[in-house]
Amino acid sequence: MKRILLFTAIGILATILFGFRTQDNQKKHGYIGVDACVMCHKTEKQGKQLDIWKNSGHAKAYQTLLTEEADKIAKDNGFETPAAKTEACLKCHASGYDVDASLLGKKFKIEDGVQCETCHGPGSDYKDMKIMKDRSLAIKNGLIVYEDYKELCVKCHNSESPTYKEINFEEAWEKIKHPVPKN
Ligand code: HEC
Ligand code: HEC
Ligand code: HEC
Ligand code: HEC
Repeated sequence: MKRILLFTAIGILATILFGFRTQDNQKKHGYIGVDACVMCHKTEKQGKQLDIWKNSGHAKAYQTLLTEEADKIAKDNGFETPAAKTEACLKCHASGYDVDASLLGKKFKIEDGVQCETCHGPGSDYKDMKIMKDRSLAIKNGLIVYEDYKELCVKCHNSESPTYKEINFEEAWEKIKHPVPKN
């Protein structure tokens, strides 16, 4: 009798766990990395998103965590791990550190810091041309777009940042915006 109960319990537990797992997998899109996005987003005609991003602070946000200064800030804030291994720092300075390795494509690099997919969502399910060209289909497949860019900026540019400097978002946006040229 005890055995039967035990097996039933294991069965139920497995169903619950497995059930949640598959649901989870359906929700989770993989990261493909900057190099994969910019195959289509780097020419003048497309709007040179690669160059604009590369020249922005965002491209070096992870490198910043590798500095002595960053480790000191982490330590001063009570963390025992180096900055680049501290989730509380990575959350605004990188992507992909908190997902299963199977969700990271071959071209994905954590070193790319605040990258295309940090802001636009992991792209494995929207990156295909057919989907990308259909805005609402791309959004259904994980693409994140913004009505008002400021709602995005304040997620990281806020006083939770240990080195917080208030920025003027209009001016900051002029530095990093990367529109597709209208023709
Ligand atoms: C196979 C080519 C291709 C790849 C790869 C690709 N895109 Fe696109 N993307 C497009 C095209 C085409 C459009 C439509 C551009 C237009 O509006 O003319 C587009 C549009 C977009 C838009 C604008 C959506 C809107 O309407 O506001 C964003 C944001 C975007 N892509 C981000 C990404 C990101 C991030 C990646 C990597 C995860 C990526 N793309 C990979 C081709 C691609
Ligand atoms: C710091 C956040 C951030 C990063 C990093 C970022 N973007 Fe964007 N991107 C935005 C915002 C905000 C917009 C404007 C609102 C929108 O279209 O969603 C935008 C718009 C776009 C558009 C549409 C432009 C248009 O005219 O419709 C494309 C295409 C795009 N991004 C591609 C990329 C690619 C490719 C990368 C990486 C090289 C990248 N973005 C990196 C935040 C970001
Ligand atoms: C995921 C977090 C994140 C988001 C979202 C984000 N940023 Fe940043 N941003 C950073 C980090 C981290 C740095 C510092 C990078 C460094 O110096 O290592 C930074 C730096 C910058 C810089 C360079 C500052 C300088 O030194 O001049 C500008 C400009 C900027 N961000 C603009 C924006 C704008 C505009 C938005 C909204 C569209 C935005 N950011 C959204 C994390 C973010
Ligand atoms: C809420 C988001 C956020 C968190 C969390 C965060 N940062 Fe940052 N970090 C930023 C932004 C945005 C910038 C650029 C502007 C600024 O300094 O406010 C930045 C800039 C930096 C800089 C460059 C400072 C300078 O003066 O150029 C260092 C170093 C840094 N962060 C280290 C860390 C460390 C270490 C942690 C973890 C203990 C951490 N950050 C956590 C958002 C964040």
